[in-house]
Amino acid sequence: MKLTLKIWRQKNTNEKGRFVSYTVDNVNPDMSMLECLDVLNETLIERGEEPVAFEHDCREGICGSCGFMINGIPHGPMPATTVCQLTMRHFKDGQELTIEPWRASAFPLIKDLVVDRRSFDRIIASGGYISINTGNAPDANSIPVGKDIADKAMDAAACIGCGACVAACPNASAALFTGAKIAHLSILPQGQPERDRRALQMVAQMNAENFGGCTNIGECTAACPKEIPLEVIATMNRDFIRGSWKERDSTVRTITPMTEWSTGSKLDIDPHATS
Ligand code: SF4
Ligand code: FES
Repeated sequence: MKLTLKIWRQKNTNEKGRFVSYTVDNVNPDMSMLECLDVLNETLIERGEEPVAFEHDCREGICGSCGFMINGIPHGPMPATTVCQLTMRHFKDGQELTIEPWRASAFPLIKDLVVDRRSFDRIIASGGYISINTGNAPDANSIPVGKDIADKAMDAAACIGCGACVAACPNASAALFTGAKIAHLSILPQGQPERDRRALQMVAQMNAENFGGCTNIGECTAACPKEIPLEVIATMNRDFIRGSWKERDSTVRTITPMTEWSTGSKLDIDPHATS
């Protein structure tokens, strides 16, 4: 196969970017999209040109490192598929593919197709965990979990943090990601003690990171390579509202989002807010 790859090239955050077209001959239909970029990069290096920067690690659809837009679709045209799993047989010989990074102000561009997704890390660090005392592992089955609950928690836990949901959303909302990270803990018995605090802190951090609001468009779930359902956003909203209600006696409860890596500012939450 022969393909034309029109790729966004940008040296760093401060310099202007532009699309550059490259022709790649001898594309094997069994190659993945990332292997196709590897082939292009070998050619660029041989020519003494700068290779295209892109993120990757597992190349098996589990780490969430990879991801960019292909012809305007996060991770390309195949549902439930990351770009590392997307094989070139899904494209036509002679086709032109426009490849560009996630576009969201909460994901500042680092270089070419690489964006800074540490805003996701800060959302997790603000409450996406269960606090436990260290010591021996508890006995198996000491906390029974019903199969339906376990299945739902596993479905939400499938989120790999790739950021496609943000890139797909016209508002650049992180509601699907944050909802998944809240839901996979809050529906388990082990997640109950910190349930309210977790939702309040993580939503506050999400808002502080410049993500847009969710308006129930649903592009996120359509683009998600792990098919995370919109239901997790409802779980997040329910937990947030319940947590806010329990705190209603405080006139204004103040949550300070993490600022270790960002200039995120202090956020005041109206305890009577409904979303
Ligand atoms: S919800 Fe889906 S699209 Fe969003 S970060 Fe998780 S896996 Fe990626
Ligand atoms: S490289 Fe790990 S999910 Fe694509």
